[in-house]
Amino acid sequence: MTELERAKLIKDACDARQKAHAPYSKFLVGAALLTESDEIIVGSNVENASYGLTICAERVAFGTAIASGHRRFQVLAVATAGGHAPCGACRQVASEFCDDLLVLLIDADRPDRVIETRLTELLPGRFVFSPAE
Ligand code: THU
Repeated sequence: MTELERAKLIKDACDARQKAHAPYSKFLVGAALLTESDEIIVGSNVENASYGLTICAERVAFGTAIASGHRRFQVLAVATAGGHAPCGACRQVASEFCDDLLVLLIDADRPDRVIETRLTELLPGRFVFSPAE
């Protein structure tokens, strides 16, 4: 990832956050995925009056990317108020497509101070489906 790509990824995650539909929690989340082919795919959290139907920003980004034909990713950037890490469900979804992944945690109020972590650090021992034959 170039410095330019990194800056764009951070900006796109922050912009996607502004597009979140989060009238219930008011907790806006934006995600931006850098694909293997250097494209950026974004997602925002989408809440619902039936709370359990809410979809996280990261999973919206992964779903959109998959539907656009992408299967491999380099970086996931997540923007929240406070720079929070993705939830467990989103970590498992990310692990479906990435053995490891650089994860950028962005505090939307301080986008200049990004915390870098990795999926393997956030989700050791991911679930792998290997049914008995
Ligand atoms: N949320 C995300 O979008 N990503 C996460 O990784 C954790 C939580 C959203 C879901 C809900 O709309 C709001 O944040 C509060 O939980």
